[in-house]
Amino acid sequence: MVSKLLKGALAAAMLSVAPVAAIAQDTAAEVAALGGDAKAGKKVYRKCKACHVIDKDKNRVGPHQVGIIGRPAAAIEGFKYSDAMIAKGEEGLVWNVETLSAYLANPKGYIEGTKMAFAGLKKEDDIANVITYMAEEGGIFEATN
Ligand code: HEC
Repeated sequence: MVSKLLKGALAAAMLSVAPVAAIAQDTAAEVAALGGDAKAGKKVYRKCKACHVIDKDKNRVGPHQVGIIGRPAAAIEGFKYSDAMIAKGEEGLVWNVETLSAYLANPKGYIEGTKMAFAGLKKEDDIANVITYMAEEGGIFEATN
């Protein structure tokens, strides 16, 4: 059986017509280019901790976030995603700097029907910093799997 995770990764690889390792490198470079501050991002991430765990593959109200950077949407088996998030995963949405920034700024605006009950981060700095922290703490998907 091909896991959802693998299917997502394959979809991502096919979309960009690039080997998976190259995607991981690009994603890491994109995060570095943000110039965010991981320490400040850790503070921002406190808001997420009500629902997410990033240092262990343990789901809470939200799915765990190990390897979240570069991970396809709705990839965690056994987590009950909304239909909206599952549809995005099937369309090939991958969590990179661009898509995370859009989702975190306005979750319900970016994915209508998401069940993430979070208003969004209003400051661009907070978004850059939290993504930098998430890359450091949760790691890059292709590099960790
Ligand atoms: C009130 C609980 C809650 C808070 C707070 C919250 N989330 Fe979520 N998050 C969720 C839920 C529930 C989902 C699943 C959404 C769906 O299926 O539509 C989710 C999904 C996600 C996803 C997609 C994961 C995947 O596997 O596709 C990302 C990325 C994410 N959240 C990041 C964050 C970040 C970063 C923060 C803090 C800035 C945050 N969330 C705050 C509940 C929360």
